[in-house]
Amino acid sequence: MDRAIAIDVSHLSKSYGSHVAVADISFQVYAGEIFGLLGPNGAGKSTTLRTLITLLTPSSGTATVLGLDTVRDADKVRHVIGYVPQERAIDRFLTGREHLELLAALYHLPKDEAAKRIGELLKLVELESHADRPAKTYSGGMKRKLDIACGLLPDPKILFLDEPTLGLDVQSRLRIWDYVRMLKARGMTVVMTTNYLDEADQLCDRLAIIDGGRIKTLGSPVELKVGLGGDIVSVTLKESAKIPALESALKGQPAIRAVRATDKGLDIRVESPEKALPAVLEAANRLNCGVEFIQYNRPRLDDVFIAHTGRRIEETTPSKME
Ligand SMILES: Nc1ncnc2c1ncn2[C@@H]1O[C@H](COP(=O)(O)OP(=O)(O)OP(=O)(O)O)[C@@H](O)[C@H]1O
Ligand SMILES: [Mg+2]
Repeated sequence: MDRAIAIDVSHLSKSYGSHVAVADISFQVYAGEIFGLLGPNGAGKSTTLRTLITLLTPSSGTATVLGLDTVRDADKVRHVIGYVPQERAIDRFLTGREHLELLAALYHLPKDEAAKRIGELLKLVELESHADRPAKTYSGGMKRKLDIACGLLPDPKILFLDEPTLGLDVQSRLRIWDYVRMLKARGMTVVMTTNYLDEADQLCDRLAIIDGGRIKTLGSPVELKVGLGGDIVSVTLKESAKIPALESALKGQPAIRAVRATDKGLDIRVESPEKALPAVLEAANRLNCGVEFIQYNRPRLDDVFIAHTGRRIEETTPSKME
């Protein structure tokens, strides 16, 4: 299917001095989709996003947004996008409504149109009843909702969200996912970054896994999981000391594609569990490894992440709760 392309990134690189933050990445975002950049801290997600929204100039390569070049046509690009930064730059002494009013003045929106839009946006993000309280008294989730309302104020065709739910509680995260889905249903294109696997899995139509400034893989969550080829058998052993022996016994066996040690056992990628399970149990038995628990899963997005980066995303991402 031919789909309209909203964003076209071609061989984009960005260095800060000698540090290469983004290295020769290329991808396209289709109109009307939710596209995610998934990666650990320092992967280059914000740098990529900030280049697309014209805040940064690429060191090399190009990017276009709705056919407009982010360097040559930067002013025009700014007219069609909204941006919700990772670090909020909102003055918490103003009320929620005052923030939006200030922004409306910056965008030169006529007063009555601004008032109407602000009313709609406060309703959309469920902040109507808190609109006239100082934003510094808002909870983390309410502040993030206000950030999103600010990003939507210019009525953008494309919305860029940098870590929309970072550090939020489960309830607030789910609400924000709902808003993002609603924006998509209204025809908006959404580009977001995240270092949450579940967010990428459940919210994004397609995503790029980015690590060390490079795209490791790209596709829909389902494509990426299917692309791994094979299911995962997770074995928990009674004694973790036996893990290395079982790991080396299984590596290279015909029914087994990959073996990875976990805290308590092994994750074994297999072509078909019917063929692999007998081999796993036979090896465990022969090596006298007590099996406490055995579980079989379709690959998850964390398996995809590990397969393409060689490690778990949690191992690279310190928690950043507020
Ligand atoms: N202004 C800057 N000057 C120098 N180095 C920078 C600057 N901004 C980012 N970097 C570096 O570039 C790399 C990519 O940073 P970036 O902020 O794009 O990562 P990220 O994927 O958004 O990470 P996070 O999940 O922590 O937000 C990192 O190594 C970072 O330290
Ligand atoms: Mg970032």
